[in-house]
Amino acid sequence: MKVDGKHTRTIWVEADGKTVGTIDQTLLPHRYATIRLDTAGDVARAIKTMHVRGAPLIGAAAAYGMALAARQDASDAALERAYALLIATRPTAINLKWALDEMMASLRNRARDERMAAAYRRAAEIADEDVEINAAIGRHGLKLIEEIAAKKPGAPVNVLTHCNAGWLATVDWGTATSPIYQAHDKGVPVHVWVDETRPRNQGASLTAWELGQHGVKHTVIPDNTGGHLMQHRQVDIAIVGTDRVTAQGDVANKIGTYLKALAAKDNGVPFYVALPSPTIDFTVVDGVTEIPIEQRSADEVTTMTGRTADGRIESVRIVPDGSNVANYGFDVTPARLITGLITERGVIAATREALAQAFPERAA
Ligand code: MRU
Repeated sequence: MKVDGKHTRTIWVEADGKTVGTIDQTLLPHRYATIRLDTAGDVARAIKTMHVRGAPLIGAAAAYGMALAARQDASDAALERAYALLIATRPTAINLKWALDEMMASLRNRARDERMAAAYRRAAEIADEDVEINAAIGRHGLKLIEEIAAKKPGAPVNVLTHCNAGWLATVDWGTATSPIYQAHDKGVPVHVWVDETRPRNQGASLTAWELGQHGVKHTVIPDNTGGHLMQHRQVDIAIVGTDRVTAQGDVANKIGTYLKALAAKDNGVPFYVALPSPTIDFTVVDGVTEIPIEQRSADEVTTMTGRTADGRIESVRIVPDGSNVANYGFDVTPARLITGLITERGVIAATREALAQAFPERAA
């Protein structure tokens, strides 16, 4: 998608052909800056500190992390060390493990002197595949938006989304935002309710920024507003992303997604989840008991960071000293609350049968 009118992806190999560039997502929306990653350790730190985030981008970054590791030392032991370092960065997004396993599968049985080139090649393929997958998700999701638009001629389709499942969270297009961008580009009027998404504000800081860059109308709302809007028929469809989908169609996504799905069910609002197939984890079934939920630092809750009137970026404390804080990064929305899954192979039911039928090679 575009940054100041220039087509940009979220991850690339720099002109030196070795180091990897990415966008520093901790500075947005106040500053657009890129960072250069030189080692697998740099990539692991960038993922852990959320300079790089969003399930598909975490996967692509980890793949490049393996390529950077292979550049330094392509021995089995070094690759295994890099795998262990990268897999430990974040526990919920399964794209991380998927990408690392893909890299290992393409490197393990190769001669050592071929591994570095093969690693860069496979990482680039993983990034390119993500772009293609998300474009296909957009084409399928577009039909849902067009169906709604046909029933309210001239009026915008109101989409609610949570967190940032936009192009910043992927290599390009985004998952939940891909149908939105494609509708906008086709001239279908669309307006997005953007949940701010406490505590890290990925909605207010990232989704709002990228929709604004692309010229998509949007309104940022405090996280608890969605239910009220749904009761007053101001949400036509909810589309969110996901970090892991189980074999039976349960969905882990940013904390607060479950409450939106409950409100959507109560109000008859269609609730869709957009996902690339690497986000499906066929090894787990019951999302609530089986998906590991990341718990992050209390600082993310006790402080807020923003821009002061004179342009400085500052953090301020908003919780009394001494109060206990809990910071669960994700929750699980059971399949029964999901209207459909928007995948690269079409819109399917959130059921074990539909997932296995759409992705037989993965289900096996
Ligand atoms: O903690 P984050 O910012 O990595 O969480 C991101 C989300 O929850 C996204 O919705 C999810 O990764 C899907 S991104 C296409």
